[in-house]
Amino acid sequence: MTSINYNARSYLWVDDLSFEDTKQLFSQATQIKKHLTRGIHPRFLEGKQVALVFSEASTRTKMSFQLAAQRLGAQCLVIDNVKSSSMSKGETFSDTFWTLHSIKPDLFVIRCGGEDPLDEVTQRSNIPVINAGFGAKSHPTQGLLDAFTIQERFGKFAGIKVLIVGDIDHSRVASSDIKLLKMFGADVKVCAPKNLYQRDLGVENVESLDEALGWCDAYIGLRVQFERHESEKSFINENDYIESFSLNSQRLDKLQKSAIIMHPGPVNWGVEFQQQVQDDKRLVMWQQKENGVYTRAALMEMLLKGE
Ligand code: CP
Repeated sequence: MTSINYNARSYLWVDDLSFEDTKQLFSQATQIKKHLTRGIHPRFLEGKQVALVFSEASTRTKMSFQLAAQRLGAQCLVIDNVKSSSMSKGETFSDTFWTLHSIKPDLFVIRCGGEDPLDEVTQRSNIPVINAGFGAKSHPTQGLLDAFTIQERFGKFAGIKVLIVGDIDHSRVASSDIKLLKMFGADVKVCAPKNLYQRDLGVENVESLDEALGWCDAYIGLRVQFERHESEKSFINENDYIESFSLNSQRLDKLQKSAIIMHPGPVNWGVEFQQQVQDDKRLVMWQQKENGVYTRAALMEMLLKGE
């Protein structure tokens, strides 16, 4: 089901690709992974120009999109520093978008604040747009790489239990992961303090981490986004949070041996994860980053195919 009718084929929300198309994307990402890890660079995007516009900070998403585009033969135009763009002179997000639209890149990859009208400009754009992080609203390509990593490890979604732990309300990853994993039939629960899960994402909140640890096959830790905590409603005491929700050596012992530990990054070490997690063989955080290249490459190819 597509939530919005776009002029061009865009990807702002996980349900902008159907279940069948997302399955097809994973299959193509697997092929691209095989090629790239053997040093073969299929030129699916030869001659294409990809405009990367990042008005919020990013390391993983921006670099993996850029690397994926270049590996597939595209060239990239990048704005990743608001200070060196005319946004620093007060140019609006919309004017920036339509300025770049006028010079006709083949694809936009955009990270912006939740207050920016990304959905509005995308609806009117003749050029496909990929959402690379939209405030706390959504991060669908993180959803893709997370689901792909789970599929790679377990070979299926049915019966796989996924626990998403941490700052659910301020996370753009949580909503995208939940929607996509549920679309594929995984069993998803969250584990968060009550005041960090006040929006309804349609999944149960198991408030005791110690009870939930033995249940899950995939543990997804989230960063506590202290910088987005604006009101008393979302106030948490850091020490209390660490006591109840940090993954430490005692809690690692309670996780199933076959489980995987994931994190979208960046990690607040000492908060959601203690240092022992770094050495745990169940940690697949680095594979997630790598899979970001293949899933984003497959997505760009899918959106540009036939353009
Ligand atoms: N996971 C993620 O979106 O990381 P970046 O903010 O570094 O892109």
